[in-house]
Amino acid sequence: MILIKDPIALEGLIKAKKAQNLAIGFVPTMGALHLGHISLIEEAKANTDFVVCSIFVNPTQFNSPTDLANYPRTLEADLLLLAAVGCDVLFHPEVSQIYQSKELKLSAADYGNFIHVLEGAKRPGHFDGVITILTKLFKITLPNQVYFGQKDYQQCMVVQTLIARDFPSIKFNRCAIVREADGLALSSRNVRLTREERAIAPQIFKTLQYLSQQWQKLAWEAALNEARSSLSKLPFELEYLEVCDPNTLETLQDYSANAVVLVAVNLGSTRLIDNHIL
Ligand code: PAF
Repeated sequence: MILIKDPIALEGLIKAKKAQNLAIGFVPTMGALHLGHISLIEEAKANTDFVVCSIFVNPTQFNSPTDLANYPRTLEADLLLLAAVGCDVLFHPEVSQIYQSKELKLSAADYGNFIHVLEGAKRPGHFDGVITILTKLFKITLPNQVYFGQKDYQQCMVVQTLIARDFPSIKFNRCAIVREADGLALSSRNVRLTREERAIAPQIFKTLQYLSQQWQKLAWEAALNEARSSLSKLPFELEYLEVCDPNTLETLQDYSANAVVLVAVNLGSTRLIDNHIL
């Protein structure tokens, strides 16, 4: 695997690969890689000829400077994982190689109502930062296919909209959530959980499973309220638990339609999100 920091060097390499008619698979990440990320690389390897992974902790998508400073950074371990899975290139630029000072973010404000709810409401400006960095990364890596995890369900919708608008030749792939044996969705932030928090974190997925069993039963609303109150008990601090239309993220009032249940909690100082398609 080649480690490239310079965007211009990567652009040159990608152009050479494309000249050989190779299909580029791209997996953007912020590092602290886990088996969820590796499953995306594996998927990219199975379906494209040349796989690029980026590790870039993107400052413009963080709402809080503390969250940005505390975001786990584990480059040595990441390099080993990527080499073992057979990734072709790791792109790992410095912030100054990506952003000019005082550069303005792109705006996702007109992407549709779905941009303003859930993560969009809780983390104002977050998706502006996501589309800003992905626009830059897509222009550098010129991918044929990109791979994103379903754990960030709303982000997947944002990326699909970005691609439909600005990069119609890219094929978007949403890949299944990878979970620990006890159901906790893999996340780079899990390493920040204390032992006690880690022990109760699977409660999040258990709640989603419970709702999945209750879905389309008459006691559905009561089940949702019960789930909310159980995830509001300390040390959980519930940000949202909503059952939504999977295409618009509008809150569903009845249980006859397709749905996705999405949750965000703070567990101690760690923010965790998860979802389940019903
Ligand atoms: O999901 C992430 O890790 C980030 O939001 C992404 C897509 C790499 C953009 O910085």
